[in-house]
Parts: sequence; C-alpha cells; structure tokens
Amino acid sequence: MIPFYDPLRTYEDNYAHGPFGVFCEPSPYVYAGNAQATFLGHSVGRPFGIPAGPLLNAAFCAAAFRHGYDINVYKTVRTRAHPAHPFPNTLAVHVDGQLTVERAEHPVLADDDFRHVTSVTNSFGVPSRDPDEWQPDMAAAVRSAGTGQVLVGSFQGTRPDSGATDREKAYIADHVRAATLVAETGVRVLELNISCPNEGATDLLCFDTPTVVKIVDAVKTAVGELPLLLKLAYFRDDPPLARLVAATRGIVQGYAAVNTMSAHLVGRDGRQALPGQGRDVGGVCGAAIAWAGLEMAGRLATLRDRGSDDFTIVGVGGVRTQEDYAAMRHAGADVVMSATGAMFDPLLGLRIQGVAERARLR
Ligand SMILES: Cc1cc2nc3c(=O)[nH]c(=O)nc-3n(C[C@H](O)[C@H](O)[C@H](O)COP(=O)(O)O)c2cc1C
Repeated sequence: MIPFYDPLRTYEDNYAHGPFGVFCEPSPYVYAGNAQATFLGHSVGRPFGIPAGPLLNAAFCAAAFRHGYDINVYKTVRTRAHPAHPFPNTLAVHVDGQLTVERAEHPVLADDDFRHVTSVTNSFGVPSRDPDEWQPDMAAAVRSAGTGQVLVGSFQGTRPDSGATDREKAYIADHVRAATLVAETGVRVLELNISCPNEGATDLLCFDTPTVVKIVDAVKTAVGELPLLLKLAYFRDDPPLARLVAATRGIVQGYAAVNTMSAHLVGRDGRQALPGQGRDVGGVCGAAIAWAGLEMAGRLATLRDRGSDDFTIVGVGGVRTQEDYAAMRHAGADVVMSATGAMFDPLLGLRIQGVAERARLR
C-alpha cells in the first residue's frame, strides 16, 4: 500500500505535494453521531488517531480526519523556522522481534527497502515553518476536523544559543511563546513534546523533572484552561516516571507515550545509515517498539490508580492492527494513536472504525 508520507521523497517534497495514496482518494467514512469516548472534554467518534509526526500540515490532517482518524496531532512546531535534517529522514528498520533496551545497545540495520516494512527510523530534527506560516495552516487543520473529531497541536521549546545570558529563563520563555502561538490557532488540546531524541538522546527533557515542572507551570499559566498533554519517552525505571507524574499531574491533563526509542543505525555495509554528524543514532518506531508503548500505558495507568487521579493516557507505539488497538486500550490507554502503522497502512483508521470491511476495503 502507498504510504501517505512517502519516505523516498524529501521532507519538503512531502510537505508540498503530500499526502499520497488513499489519503488523496474519497473516503467512505461518515460520522454516524455515535461518539464512543470523551477526550479531555470533547466527544469523539473513536478514541483513535495519528500522533505528532506524519501529519505535516493541514492537508495531511484533513485527509486523516476524512479517513476515520478522529484525534490527530499536527506535527510538532517551534517558535521559529528550523530546517529538516538532510534526506533521507525515514529508513526501514530491520529488527528480528522487539527493540528491547538490551537489543538497542547493539547496531540495528536500516535501509531503504520498504517492502514488508513494520518499523522505521525517523530523523527529521523537528523541522518547523515560521509561525507566520504554520499558524494559519494549523488553524485550517483545526477547521478540517468534523463532528466527533479533535485536532491536537504539538509544540516544543528550542534551546537558546550557548551565548544567551539566562539560558533556562530563555528556554522556558520559548516554550510559553510556542504554547501561546499554538493556542491562538484554536486547537482543542496542546501537547508538549519533551521527548524529542533530536534534542539529545541521553538528556531528554522528560528525564529532568525540575525543569519540566518550571516549563509546564509557565505554559499553563499562559494558556489557562486549554488541556495540556506531555509527550514522554520510554522510562527504563519506575521511580523517575513516578516522580515526573507526581510533580506534574496537578498541572497537566495527561500523558502521551511513547516517542521513538533510540538505536545505532547501520547500513548493510556496517557503516552509519543516516548521513551527517550526530545521526549515527536515530529514533526507531513501529512494531519493534510495541512492547514499550504497551508497557508505558500500563505503568501510567498504575500510577493513575495509585494516586486516584483522572489524567488522560494516550497510548502510542507499534499499533498496526485492531488487536494492537484493543491491547493498548486494555493496558489502560484512553486514546490510542498510530504513526508508523497508519503511514504504511492508511486504511487503519477505517479498520478501527469498522468501516473498512463494510466498504470492502483491504
Ligand atoms: C515520520 C515521523 C515523524 C515524527 N515526528 C514527531 C514529532 O514531530 N513530534 C513527536 O512528538 N513525535 C514524533 N514522532 C513520533 C511519533 O509521534 C510516535 O511517538 C512514535 O512514532 C511511536 O509510534 P509508532 O510506533 O506508531 O510510530 C514521529 C514519528 C514518525 C514516524
């Protein structure tokens, strides 16, 4: 099946000409008025959608809504224009089985053989248009949501140059500005990406609870009632995750997990698969990290139960089938999202809606 984001084209080419494949075709999906869930105060058809990443702009978001994905996240934006890493940005990843923490300590094969692909790496560097461009486009994406559908706006802060005087203050202020700009577009929910491997795999923001608290405090003060989700990486150990949740659960309305898992990526010749400095390590997503998505949903649900909380859990990671969707819900996720699975099987949304069979789509 043709992916709606074409990994064999550049990011810019996808941005200008995508989405591709069935996302360009008419869709049999019609909202029947039977909301099956509530997502942060909004009735939704199905609690299923596409997380931050593959939906580059309003054209992609509108196509996703049309094809039965009811909760979609506009790709992470910044307060100023930022270029994408050089092509290629997405490679097929070949791991036998799951990319466990132990397996990720050894090189992983990545190439452009997308036949039978179930896992990929993505290495974009969180590119962003200037707000003058993405704000009207994100507002258009908000308008493209139908009844029972919700657009989430994802954003992140950019670390200031090393010469800046008060770097922490500037970093927090950049988050607040990004959140404010996203809120102005009319999105129903905000998502703060604190798990971007491109900002340094070992010192991910989500592992620095004191800084996260300062940021979310400042962001929430600026955006008021608008619900805020935190996008998390995989936490190896329970105590740091428990500390982060304990420190933020009174401020944010939920958590989305997981982002990609980092691994050393090599080609068939054993050399670095992605070109350029710092790209020897890339984020892996898709089937190989399904275990991590399920585990994080379960651990967050346990923390929620223990604290008698009611925060929302968005389960992400390796979801490719109706069974994966059901397993993620069973693990405790209120909402389930699929990036890699949806990209390479754009009909997944219709399958989850139960529309694909009726329309005889395969
Ligand atoms: C092409 C692509 C681009 C992505 N870009 C972002 C991003 O900008 N922000 C973000 O929070 N996550 C990003 N992600 C990570 C996804 O949101 C998701 O957490 C991850 O891919 C795991 O889900 P999956 O196994 O269904 O792909 C991206 C993923 C893909 C495949």
